[in-house]
Amino acid sequence: MSRSRIPVAILGATGAVGQRLVAALADHPLFEAAELFASDRSAGRPYAEAVDWRLAEELPERLGEVIVQALDSARVRSRVALSALSADLALPIEEALAARGLAVISNASAHRMDRDVPLLIPEINPAHVALIEEQRRRRGGLGFIVTNPNCSTVAVAMALAPLHRAFEVRRVVAVTLQALSGAGIPGVPALAIADNVIPFIAGEADKIESEPQRILGSLAGNHVRDADFTISARVHRVPVSDGHLASLSIETAVPATPDEAREVLRTFRGEPQDMELPSAPRWPIHVLDGPRPQPALDRMREAGMAVSVGSIERCPVLGLRLEALVHNTIRGAAGAALLNAEWLHARGLLEGVVP
Ligand SMILES: NC(=O)c1ccc[n+]([C@@H]2O[C@H](COP(=O)([O-])OP(=O)(O)OC[C@H]3O[C@@H](n4cnc5c(N)ncnc54)[C@H](OP(=O)(O)O)[C@@H]3O)[C@@H](O)[C@H]2O)c1
Repeated sequence: MSRSRIPVAILGATGAVGQRLVAALADHPLFEAAELFASDRSAGRPYAEAVDWRLAEELPERLGEVIVQALDSARVRSRVALSALSADLALPIEEALAARGLAVISNASAHRMDRDVPLLIPEINPAHVALIEEQRRRRGGLGFIVTNPNCSTVAVAMALAPLHRAFEVRRVVAVTLQALSGAGIPGVPALAIADNVIPFIAGEADKIESEPQRILGSLAGNHVRDADFTISARVHRVPVSDGHLASLSIETAVPATPDEAREVLRTFRGEPQDMELPSAPRWPIHVLDGPRPQPALDRMREAGMAVSVGSIERCPVLGLRLEALVHNTIRGAAGAALLNAEWLHARGLLEGVVP
């Protein structure tokens, strides 16, 4: 292991997202999982004993031996924290860590809509990172919080970004089919979901209806002016292990044919691709032909970091319709946080924070 890797703390390391972070950091070229935090239930035990490891890949041996610590903001020694905590826990802990001067890169929803916190997809809104300066002024230190979006929002925002730039999105109807791992560990009881679809996920529709406008919004001085379109979202839990599918019907100000939409989606790229960051997919959006995308077939494209878009058709009501798929715990969570960390490092925003 390289001595020069930047030590990071994983908060919520035993959960569905935390496990993905542990797996991704085992051989990461820039960051090293130095500290693992979870609840009192897990604390004091080696990670391999504390965790109910749910991933197909083997638990990284060295990290299996790390003793899990009970979460306490004063105990975190690393200068970078990757947070996979529930929102209620994340709210005070992430703020306390940023106030102590740490870079907090979070999956949780607690601070996503704070006025000076970037809600970042670096392919789409790298300029929003200027908000970090506002946070530093407010707290009087180098610490900051950067968040990645809700998992389904990633599919929606990725599909809408190139269309909004080219044709100006006005209205969207979104229907999601969301995987079991989105509910964390242990997740949805088998008896509730076997042979079933549940048309409710707490808080999810609200996030899908509000986060994309912020991500696609423009920086106006010291805040983000939300993009001016509306989304109506219905969400469903389905018996799929990983991969959230979003079915979108889209109205644009400039009419777009399915072929025109396909072309702007297919050619979409951003800074992570130009910088060749370790977690960046070569193409953030894969445009597929036929009855695709499908979770079982397409969720692991580019190691789970590409969003797949397909079934692009004319919609007789709103003009355009398509299906978008995201691997919810990779591009929708752990992989998104790690890409944000890599991008912040490449842009020099961890300078001063890490020695
Ligand atoms: N799952 C997804 O697809 C997904 C996608 C995007 C964003 N997110 C967000 O990411 C976050 C984590 O989600 P998840 O699905 O990984 O949840 P999860 O599987 O329920 O994991 C929760 C983690 O928090 C820890 N924890 C629970 N209570 C704690 C306490 N009192 N003090 C310290 N740690 C505590 C758990 O540790 P123990 O094992 O010790 O209980 C576990 O490590 C949430 O904010 C979620 O909304 C999830």
